Amino acid sequence: MGQDWSQWLDEAPETGDPAASRTRKAPVVRLRRRREDGSEGEGMRPVLVVGGCGGAGTTTTVLGLAAELGAGGSTTVAVDATSAGSDLALRGADEHLSPISLQAWLYGRGDDSPAPLKECLSQSSSGIGLLWRDAAPLRRRATYLTVARAIADAGYTPVYDGGSPIAARHLRPLLEDGDIALVLAIPARADAANRLRVTLEWLDDEFGGQTEGQGGGIVGDTTIVVSHQLSGNDSAVADHLREHLTGWVRDIREIPYDPHLARGELVRHNALEADTRRAYRNLLSGVAS
Ligand SMILES: Nc1ncnc2c1ncn2[C@@H]1O[C@H](COP(=O)(O)OP(=O)(O)OP(=O)(O)O)[C@@H](O)[C@H]1O
Ligand SMILES: [Mg+2]
Repeated sequence: MGQDWSQWLDEAPETGDPAASRTRKAPVVRLRRRREDGSEGEGMRPVLVVGGCGGAGTTTTVLGLAAELGAGGSTTVAVDATSAGSDLALRGADEHLSPISLQAWLYGRGDDSPAPLKECLSQSSSGIGLLWRDAAPLRRRATYLTVARAIADAGYTPVYDGGSPIAARHLRPLLEDGDIALVLAIPARADAANRLRVTLEWLDDEFGGQTEGQGGGIVGDTTIVVSHQLSGNDSAVADHLREHLTGWVRDIREIPYDPHLARGELVRHNALEADTRRAYRNLLSGVAS
């Protein structure tokens, strides 16, 4: 991307005044997605969350974003878009865990048309639906484009848990869709921030346009989420990313340490701290606009 990456996290981040690099204003939320014909579409932009590494906070971010999206009135489904199946529904379905997988829903009628989505979903007390998958491949040349179309037809806004790595083949149809907002999750660790560089360069190489400069293309539409998985909320890593990536990526956001999330068990959105919910809400308004 032509960026000078020479000043990266190899040096320990300074704990100076980062306020100077935080000059970007939060974008105004666009509540309704415009269709190509200019009419108002139903719901908000679909979101794809991908981890910069394993244990990045990807699934947690999907659950938080989806819950806030649902709270805003969109009919929302959190969708497992990993290749082998993640713990998305096990972590998020605190009300009802459906026995029906994404694959079973997609071929529900046996004639290539999906079963009614609502009846197949797991449910969270936050009001959102969840769709889990297993490691079996999608059948008959179906891809996540097939999944995305069927979800849109059912009137739901999806938040996809893409897991990691981002280069997984099955994520390509979602990454190619410019309508889907991309969120890259990393834990608040220097090594994860360093590895982000390769991920952003890969994104730019694979999906960036020839003519897009700084802040353009898929990298310019990518929001980075730094999750604090250890207490203390040390912002050094996020501040360092802000210093080097502001103007290149869409935004850099932090999710504070939350003792409820730290348990690694079932997530009840209403058990999260107010600051955590606010962080997800702000993240959502940033990616949705
Ligand atoms: N804000 C937070 N506060 C405290 N703990 C957190 C926070 N975010 C994530 N965690 C914890 O960090 C761990 C990793 O989070 P999560 O499962 O969301 O990551 P992941 O990228 O989906 O991991 P995997 O690679 O297993 O899919 C979990 O145990 C989770 O509970
Ligand atoms: Mg996960």
